[in-house]
Amino acid sequence: MHNQQQVASRRNFIKGFLAGGLGAMTISPRDIAAALLSGKTPSDVHGWGVEPGQVKVGGNENPLGPSPRAVEAVARHLFSVNRYGGGTSDLIRAIGQYHAITLPDNDGSDRRSRVQDEMPIMVTAGSSPILHTMATESMKDGAEMIIARPGYTEPALSWTRYRDAKGLDLKIRGIRLDKNYTHDLDLIYKAINNNTSMVAITNPHNPTSTIVSHGQLKDFVDSVPPHVLILLDEAYIHFVRDPKYKDAVHIGLEKENVAVARTFSKGYGMAGMRVGYGIMSPKLISRLKVHMPRFNPMGYLGVVAAEAAIGDTHHIEHSRQMVQDGEDFLAKEFEAMGFEPIPSHSNFMWVDIKRDATVFSQALRELDVSISDGKRRWSMDQHVRITIGTRDENEALIWAMQRVLS
Ligand SMILES: Cc1ncc(COP(=O)(O)O)c(C=O)c1O
Repeated sequence: MHNQQQVASRRNFIKGFLAGGLGAMTISPRDIAAALLSGKTPSDVHGWGVEPGQVKVGGNENPLGPSPRAVEAVARHLFSVNRYGGGTSDLIRAIGQYHAITLPDNDGSDRRSRVQDEMPIMVTAGSSPILHTMATESMKDGAEMIIARPGYTEPALSWTRYRDAKGLDLKIRGIRLDKNYTHDLDLIYKAINNNTSMVAITNPHNPTSTIVSHGQLKDFVDSVPPHVLILLDEAYIHFVRDPKYKDAVHIGLEKENVAVARTFSKGYGMAGMRVGYGIMSPKLISRLKVHMPRFNPMGYLGVVAAEAAIGDTHHIEHSRQMVQDGEDFLAKEFEAMGFEPIPSHSNFMWVDIKRDATVFSQALRELDVSISDGKRRWSMDQHVRITIGTRDENEALIWAMQRVLS
């Protein structure tokens, strides 16, 4: 109601203004044109989890919010947080069921620890601990890590911190993406040498939203020597456009040097809950666990929310559809602005805006729209990463971009 009133009063203002003639002009014709071009401005937007009037399209979060099942689970358990909770084994079972992975049976006997040792699933507070523990496990003096450039640099940052704090000789090799902004797996393969201890592949890729084909990924993994740990980060897998696209879960189960990282932060809309997991051989899990606290570091509410959310295919489908509709809408608008957005397989778009990305992002910020500045984050001077929002958020973003560009 509030939003509708605002839109109506803006329209009335513009109508009255035009009726009064340009002689009465107190604001610029460009402002008027921008207001007429789009139905929504940031002040009309009231997004989930943000202050009214703020358009937050920089963090690749899910603007639809969490699954209602997660909300219900949190409400049900909210008053039980004086307890440590029931651990993570039910969540691990729910994840196993979701991926149709046959898990060892828990027969309730004293063999419980054996069962845990044989689990190919490790749950963590967000997927970041999987990235971090892969990095720590592969760290040794003189080692090299390979990541894509531009790319999601969290694993590399784990190395940088250790290198600076402990004086270790750790090299991070950024391999440029190909001309389509996709991982160049041939180039990555050629960069591997005896010192390489880890390769990180983000698929779909962040920040460019591209994917590599499953066949290419499988061939690549098969060709990498087994001493190299491979991280396959599938944070955005729910948004891949092709419904037949095959994920890498079976690769994580088959290869002892591969971890597949998944998160509840994106498709499931639970970034603030901090729940993620890795699928990999039990052997690799036991190597990674050395770098984790022994006592369960996960919050009770996150665990029950994730357990409730994982089977909510309706919420995931709804989120995917909203993102794809939003991308179609934004792609047309960006093209009308003279940009050539690349097709997205994620919930964000990577756009060459043909001008300074920092100046552009800051100008949007002044209009209460936050995007991700490619110059500051990835040294890509004219690129920005824009998360797809709700229809209102997308319209308000376009309104603000039109204003900045004019
Ligand atoms: C590619 C990728 N991997 C992992 C993460 C970490 O997510 P979380 O720790 O919330 O699961 C992010 C967050 O933006 C990401 O973009």
